[in-house]
Amino acid sequence: MRAMNSNEIRETYLNFFKEHGHTIMPSASLLVLNDPTLLWNNAGVTPLKKYFDGSMIPVNKRLTSCQKCIRTNDIESVGDDTHHTFFEMLGNFSIGDYFKDEAIEMAYELLTSKKYFGFPKEKLYFTVYASDNDAYNKWLSLGVDENHIVRLESNFWEIGEGPCGPDSEIFYDRGEEFDKEGLGVRLLKEEIDNMRYVEIWNNVFSQFNSKEGVKREDYKELPSKNIDTGMGLERMTCVLQGVTSSYDTDLFKKIIGKIEEL
Ligand code: ALA
Repeated sequence: MRAMNSNEIRETYLNFFKEHGHTIMPSASLLVLNDPTLLWNNAGVTPLKKYFDGSMIPVNKRLTSCQKCIRTNDIESVGDDTHHTFFEMLGNFSIGDYFKDEAIEMAYELLTSKKYFGFPKEKLYFTVYASDNDAYNKWLSLGVDENHIVRLESNFWEIGEGPCGPDSEIFYDRGEEFDKEGLGVRLLKEEIDNMRYVEIWNNVFSQFNSKEGVKREDYKELPSKNIDTGMGLERMTCVLQGVTSSYDTDLFKKIIGKIEEL
């Protein structure tokens, strides 16, 4: 694993996707424009909803960004090692261009290649939507051990109205010292709150449009099959810098130090 500062992590991510044909988009404001269903931008995908629902066509169907976000639905967890109200979300997006196969391949390469983040493969775990055999088999085909892939009914991503779909989350195993009872992968399978497996990246196979009052099985298909991903910069920095909490990373240390001094 490569020790990197937070700026290097942001640059490595964005440049990897630029090399793979994506346009780097600037972060939109935290305040949402023209979307009455949201108060804040709460994910990289929210300022891009207009492309996902087909109301606008992007010049490039491959986009990447580092979006400032406020996420209030995680508020009960804020204050643990890895949850924040405000955070930066790295993401790559395909608007009807590549889908599951290529998204999973790129995610695996960026995480495990020594040229980029260089994670040891045995430290990574993957969850997939319970019935998503394509995602399951794709991880297997890349050499992931089947004991590191967990099927979960809850792996379906949506917030507010708009693009949503089954997802595949990637976790980093921080080891037994964060798992005093030695529950191991049961923590993932039984979705027990824990600090051992840190979710570092979510790949959403975004093909449905959620609507308030409509049941999930009745959501309409989007005009195209899309990819929406999100990697929390603070978490990724915490893991790559080998510190216990994101507040111990270079993103916060200087600020906290100055506050202490004052
Ligand atoms: N939109 C997805 C998320 O925020 C990637 O987790």
